[in-house]
Amino acid sequence: MPAMLKPLQVKSPTEPAALAPGDLPADWPDLWAQILKVRQDDASAPQRQKRLAHSRQQGWTLNGPCSERSANLFALYKPLLDARQSHKDLPDSPPWLVAQLGQSLDGFVATETGDSYYVTGPHSLVHLHRLRALCDAVLVGAGTVAIDNPQLTTRRVPGPNPVRVVLDPDARLDGSSSLFSDRQSSTLWLCDARYAAIASERLASTGCMGSTSEQAGTDVVAVEGLLQNDGPPCQYLPNRVTAALAKRGLRLVFVEGGGVTVSRFFRSNALNRLHLVVAPVLIGQGRRGLQATAHEVMADCPRPPARMLILGDDLLWDLDLRA
Ligand SMILES: NC(=O)c1ccc[n+]([C@@H]2O[C@H](COP(=O)([O-])OP(=O)(O)OC[C@H]3O[C@@H](n4cnc5c(N)ncnc54)[C@H](OP(=O)(O)O)[C@@H]3O)[C@@H](O)[C@H]2O)c1
Repeated sequence: MPAMLKPLQVKSPTEPAALAPGDLPADWPDLWAQILKVRQDDASAPQRQKRLAHSRQQGWTLNGPCSERSANLFALYKPLLDARQSHKDLPDSPPWLVAQLGQSLDGFVATETGDSYYVTGPHSLVHLHRLRALCDAVLVGAGTVAIDNPQLTTRRVPGPNPVRVVLDPDARLDGSSSLFSDRQSSTLWLCDARYAAIASERLASTGCMGSTSEQAGTDVVAVEGLLQNDGPPCQYLPNRVTAALAKRGLRLVFVEGGGVTVSRFFRSNALNRLHLVVAPVLIGQGRRGLQATAHEVMADCPRPPARMLILGDDLLWDLDLRA
């Protein structure tokens, strides 16, 4: 049986302050509220037609005047709204995945001990929470859960909490991480079918097994054939993960980290979009960020279409991996 590791709890005690109202354009809160209405398929709001319009050719677009900054932010989230619309119009459309990593200038997402609190600044944290709010599920690797003990909620923005998915193919987590028991949102502990019983046993002791109509809880999801080897490192098939989530109606998925997990999804060509946020900090040695497939000559290196957006002191690269 693989070794079971406890949360390291190395994170810094204080979170960066929330953004002040003046840090965002004056027209953004209303636009974000309307984006959320589209996300929740809420046609009731009379305002909605004023700021956002949909056509089959262009998908969701801005309707009417808007500040440049809000228009740029809208462009960042438009692909998620369009993907949700496709799923609504064509229920058989494939799962749609966006990933995000906050990296240092020298390409790390955390220090060697695993401390990543905080690589990026408050604007990027808000962006992270917006991505959570717009997706059905937020997925993280077992390493992130073990080290960060994260909540994966949308506490920095208005918007729904996504279902939290912990990808732990060989059930190495001990089940004590907060998200398994805090009931802030439903949680899925996703393991290869061979290890699911181990995860269920550990979860049973927390009393949070299973969601009810009143209370969010945690379920173990057993995925047949997820693991390709008996690690470590464990090799799994990302498309088995997305298929298992799609079966539960979770088709817009945010892969939030860490570097190993995002890189595995990236290299398997499972991602539609990648938001790489580069912060002006140097970590020196630590947990690697994005690791792409190696090429011998530059001409073979992929150069996906990209847009840039300034997020406070950080620079976000929005890569379109399906163009
Ligand atoms: N800056 C950011 O955007 C960001 C986002 C998320 C996380 N992080 C940071 O990234 C780090 C974690 O990322 P990661 O790339 O190392 O891992 P990860 O992608 O979160 O998870 C997969 C890795 O965790 C290992 N693992 C599995 N079970 C574990 C356990 N119980 N305890 C410890 N490790 C386990 C796996 O090992 P095998 O390969 O052997 O299976 C695999 O290498 C943390 O320090 C976190 O703070 C940063």
